[in-house]
Amino acid sequence: VNVTLDYFDYQSDFYDVYQVHCVPRYHEMTAMATGFLREALTAGTSRPQQSEPNWLESPWPESIAASPRILDLGCGTGNTSLTMSRLFPGAHITALDGSEGMIARAKDKLAAVGTGNADFRVADLSRPGWSGALADQPFHAAVSVLVLEHLPFDAYRTCLSETMKLLEPGGWLITVEGYEAPLGIELFYREMARLELQAVKEGRITRARLDEMKALSAANEKHYFSSMSQRQEWWLEAGYSPVEFIWQYYCVAVLVGRKPLY
Ligand SMILES: C[S@@+](CC[C@H](N)C(=O)[O-])C[C@H]1O[C@@H](n2cnc3c(N)ncnc32)[C@H](O)[C@@H]1O
Repeated sequence: VNVTLDYFDYQSDFYDVYQVHCVPRYHEMTAMATGFLREALTAGTSRPQQSEPNWLESPWPESIAASPRILDLGCGTGNTSLTMSRLFPGAHITALDGSEGMIARAKDKLAAVGTGNADFRVADLSRPGWSGALADQPFHAAVSVLVLEHLPFDAYRTCLSETMKLLEPGGWLITVEGYEAPLGIELFYREMARLELQAVKEGRITRARLDEMKALSAANEKHYFSSMSQRQEWWLEAGYSPVEFIWQYYCVAVLVGRKPLY
C-alpha cells in the first residue's frame, strides 16, 4: 500500500485550488519546466555560427515540435500536460499517475480543452518495472513536476534508469523537485502558511478542510528529500549528461538532464 497515493486520491478534487493559491510559485515552476521543453524541442539540428558547443543541438529536425512524444510522470490533475498540449498542439502526451482520482481529473481537464492526443496510465513509479508497458514508443522528453520527491531513494534511482530507457537518444528528462535544504524548506513552508491563511480569508478554502488536509498530509504524504548535489550525482550515475539546475526557489528546483546521443 502506497499511503502517499491514498493521500493524493483524497486530495484530487481539491488539488487545483490548493496548488494555485497556496503553493509558492507553482505556475512559475511549471512554466520554467515547459519553457525549457520548448527550447529543447525547437533547437533543431543546425548549430549557431559560433564555435561553442550547442548543448541543445538536437538529433531531430525542428519539425519534431509539430508532433513530439512527451511523458508526464506523476501528472496529477493534468496541469503540466495541459500546458504542454497548448505549447505543442500536435504532441502525443502520455500522462501517468499512481492515483486513479488524479488521472480521472487529468482526463476531464484535457478533454474539456479538446486535446485528443493524450493517453492516460495508472502506475506506481516506486514499483520497479512500471516503464515496461510504455517501452514501444520512445519519448522525446519526460517531464515530472513535484513528484519524484515522493519516491524513496532506491526507487528514485530506479525511476531515473527506467525513464532513461524510455527516452530517444538525445531526449530530455525535466523535473521540478523539492530537495533537502533546511533553511529553504523553512522559508518555503512559511510562505505556504501565509498563502493558506490568505486563501481561508478569501473564502477559497475552509479552515476545516485545510486542517483535515494538513493532518492527512502529515500522516500520509511521504517526502524523501536529498541534497541538490546528491540528486545531480544520481542523475549522472544513471547516464544523463549534462545535468543542470536551471531554476530554484528556496527548496524547489528545476533539473534537466539529457540521454546521450550515442
Ligand atoms: C504534488 S502532485 C504533482 C502533480 C502534477 N505533476 C502537478 O504539477 O500539478 C504529486 C503527484 O505525484 C503522484 N505520485 C506520488 N507518488 C507517486 C508514485 N509512486 N507513482 C505515481 N505517481 C505518484 C501523486 O499521485 C500526485 O498526483
